[in-house]
Order: sequence, then C-alpha cells, then structure tokens
Amino acid sequence: MPFIIAIDGPAASGKGTIARALADHYGFHHLDTGLLYRATGAKGGDPVEAARTLVPDDLRRNDLRSADAGQAASRIAAIPEVRAALVDFQHRFAAQEPGAVLDGRDIGTVICPDAQVKLYVVASNEVRARRRAEELGADPAEMLAQLHERDRRDRERDTAPLRPADDATIIDTSHISVDEAITAAIAIVDRVRG
Ligand code: CDP
Ligand code: CDP
Repeated sequence: MPFIIAIDGPAASGKGTIARALADHYGFHHLDTGLLYRATGAKGGDPVEAARTLVPDDLRRNDLRSADAGQAASRIAAIPEVRAALVDFQHRFAAQEPGAVLDGRDIGTVICPDAQVKLYVVASNEVRARRRAEELGADPAEMLAQLHERDRRDRERDTAPLRPADDATIIDTSHISVDEAITAAIAIVDRVRG
C-alpha cells in the first residue's frame, strides 16, 4: 500500500515548501493540488466544464502563481461540482507507489482521510503576507487583504472547507526557518514509518 502524506493549511503558510522537501527526502510523488483549482479558474468559461476537461498541459501555464489566479481559484473552488470533478485525478495520484505527498486545503479531511501522516501548516497573517509579497514583488498590505479574503472564503464554504483534520499535527512556521520546518516534518513522518 502506498504511503500518503496529506498537507493542508492556509495560503502561503509554507505547505508547498514542506511538501516538496518531503517528496524529495522519501522519493515520493508530489502534487500541489492548488494548481488544479488555479488552472481550472484560469481556463475561464464554465468552471465545471473547465474542471471536467482539465489536462496536464493546463497545469503548466505560467500565469498560475499570480495573486489574481489565486483569487479566481478560491472562487471556483467553492462550487461542489468543480471539486467533485477533480477528485478522481487526486485519488489516482495518491495511489502511486511508493508514496505520495499532496498539499492543499482538504487533503487530510476529504481527499485522503486515511493518509498515514497529516500535517496542518500555519503561520501568522503578517508573516504569510510578507512572504507572499516578497515572492510576487507585491505590496504586503495589499497581500494581507487578499490572503485574508481568500482564507475566509476557503474556511466558510460548505463543501470541503479549510480546517485541520482531527488527527493532523500542526506545524507553525511563523518563527522558524525553512530548514527547521522541514526537519520537524521529517521527524513526524519518521515516527509514523518506524
Ligand atoms: O504552499 P504555500 O502557499 O503554503 O507556501 P509556500 O509557497 O511553500 O511558502 C511560502 C514562502 O514562505 C516561501 O517563499 C518559503 O520560502 C517561505 N518560508 C516557508 O515556507 N517556511 C518557513 N519556515 C519560512 C519561510
Ligand atoms: O499556494 P496558496 O496556498 O496561496 O494557494 P493554492 O494552494 O495554490 O490554492 C489556491 C486556491 O485553490 C485556494 O485558495 C483554495 O480556494 C483552492 N484549493 C482548494 O479549495 N482545495 C485544495 N485542495 C487546494 C486549493
């Protein structure tokens, strides 16, 4: 049975950085599930149709990391039929040997509720806004407002809202380095793998 690591958390908390490092460390596959929603939103037109016809090339568009693409993603991510259309792809990805790391909002709660390891990565609003502003070359105050709006939408939607699974381990990256966050995550996974 493949080993599954589910990583969830709000925007710019550091979950993607941890996910990539864990996949690298254990030789697992990695899927940034946010890209599925960003690509669906970026296609335009009917979002349900866009999600149903998503192909790997759609995930390679170079405008997907922008703040606008993030906002569009969180709007279409609230539509139950959009989420349903993306489930099979995520399940198939998670079933790959020897293991997979998926990061997003609902991996530990909805997509992979039986994942062997569940992490929920958080950081203070100010820290997250500053990091994302640095990445995108944007204004931190503007970024703070945007992240706040997106997190609220993600937490308050009826279908698969952002929340930690009951059995998730919380990692707060507000005051630790990337290396410290990765070391903490590896220690959690190693405890489970024995
Ligand atoms: O995937 P998510 O949106 O949660 O965040 P990310 O893209 O992995 O990380 C956002 C930024 O925070 C990156 O530039 C990281 O280098 C930085 N960062 C971090 O992820 N963890 C720390 N402990 C410190 C900084
Ligand atoms: O990297 P960052 O955390 O800023 O965003 P992302 O992970 O690329 O996700 C973009 C948006 O897609 C989120 O704000 C969510 O609305 C949505 N999303 C979701 O609903 N479920 C997931 N598993 C992943 C992303």
